[in-house]
Amino acid sequence: MTTLAERWKGLAALPRIAIATLPTPVERLAQVSESTSAEVWVKRDDLTSPTYGGNKVRKLEYLLGDARARGADTLITVGAVGSHHVLATALFGAREGFDVHAVLGPQPAGPQVLDYARCDLAAGATLHPVPSFALVPFAVHALALRLRMQGRTPYIIPGGGSSRVGALGYVEAGVELAAQLEARALPEPRAIHLALGTGGTVAGAAVGLAACGVTAEVVAVRVTDPALANKVALSRLVHQLVADLRARDERFPDIAHLALSRIRIEARELGQGYGVPTDTARFADGLARVDGIALETTYTAKTLAGLVRDAATRPPRTPLLYWHTLSSADLTPLLARAPLALPRAVAALAR
Ligand SMILES: Cc1ncc(COP(=O)(O)O)c(C=O)c1O
Repeated sequence: MTTLAERWKGLAALPRIAIATLPTPVERLAQVSESTSAEVWVKRDDLTSPTYGGNKVRKLEYLLGDARARGADTLITVGAVGSHHVLATALFGAREGFDVHAVLGPQPAGPQVLDYARCDLAAGATLHPVPSFALVPFAVHALALRLRMQGRTPYIIPGGGSSRVGALGYVEAGVELAAQLEARALPEPRAIHLALGTGGTVAGAAVGLAACGVTAEVVAVRVTDPALANKVALSRLVHQLVADLRARDERFPDIAHLALSRIRIEARELGQGYGVPTDTARFADGLARVDGIALETTYTAKTLAGLVRDAATRPPRTPLLYWHTLSSADLTPLLARAPLALPRAVAALAR
C-alpha cells in the first residue's frame, strides 16, 4: 500500500502500477552545506528506479495505471528531442506491454540530447519529429486518429506527464517526505527547492506536503517559458488534484489554497531560456558533484542554483531541501543496443 493510501484509505482504489522503488532516501549534502552556510539535504528521486529514475517514474505509476484501467494498448506522449519524460515513458510503457509513440519537438543541442532519442528507439518507441512545438497538438491528434482507425486504443500523456493523473505521483511523494520528516530522518526544512518545468512535480508535492501539515515554503525554480509554467497553470492543477482526491476520499483535507500559498516561483535562474546553461547553474553543478550528485544544466543545476541564491538570504545553518529529480541510472547498456544514426528529421531537432 502507498503512503498516500495508508493515510486516506479511499485513495487505495486509484489506478496505479507499482514501478518505483519507494521511499527514496534523504541525505545531507556536506559540500553544498559548507559552501552555502546552510544545512542542505537532498531527496534522492534520482533513485526511483534502477532502470531509469527521476521524477517521471512516480508520475508514470499513475499514468500507466489509468491507461490500463481505460483499456488502452498504446501510449502517445510528447516532449523535446532529449526529453527524460519521453524516455521514461518509452521504457516503462514497453515493460508494461504498451506500444509507445512520441511526438518530438526541437531543443538546444547539448551533450547527450540526441542520446536520449537513440535510447527511445532502443526502448522500442516510434518517434514522430515535428519542426516546431506549435505543431505538436496537431501531430498528436492526427496520430491518435490514425491509430484508432487501425483498431488501437491510444492514451495521450501530455508533456512531462503533468496531467491531473500524473501529478498524483508527486502528491504521493509529498506524503512520503512528510512521513520522513515525522520520523526525523532529516531536519524540518524552511524551504524545499524543486524544478518547475510542466508543473506536475511542484503542484503534486505542494498538495501532498500541505495535506500532511508540512509548513515549508515550496520554491518552484522555473526552468521553462513563463507561458508554460506559471501560477495560473499551477493553480488549475492544484485545484484539480484536491478535487479528485476529495472525490475519492472525503477525508482528504481541502487544502488547495493553502498548498498554493506555500508555492513561490523563482524565475531568476532561467537565464537565456529553456536548455541554455547559466553561470550559476554551472557553479551549482560543480558543487553537487563534490557531494556525488550529478546534475544537468536544463533542470536540476538551475534548481540547485536557486537554492544557493536562497541560502544567501537566510541565517546560517537554515535547513533547506533540494529535491533531485534527474535519473542517475547508467544508460550505457541501453545506448549499446541503440541505433548509431538517427533518422535525419529527428537529428535535426537538436539545434
Ligand atoms: C530532470 C527533471 N527535473 C524536473 C523536471 C520538471 O518536472 P515538471 O515537468 O513536473 O515540472 C523535469 C521535466 O521534464 C525533468 O526532466
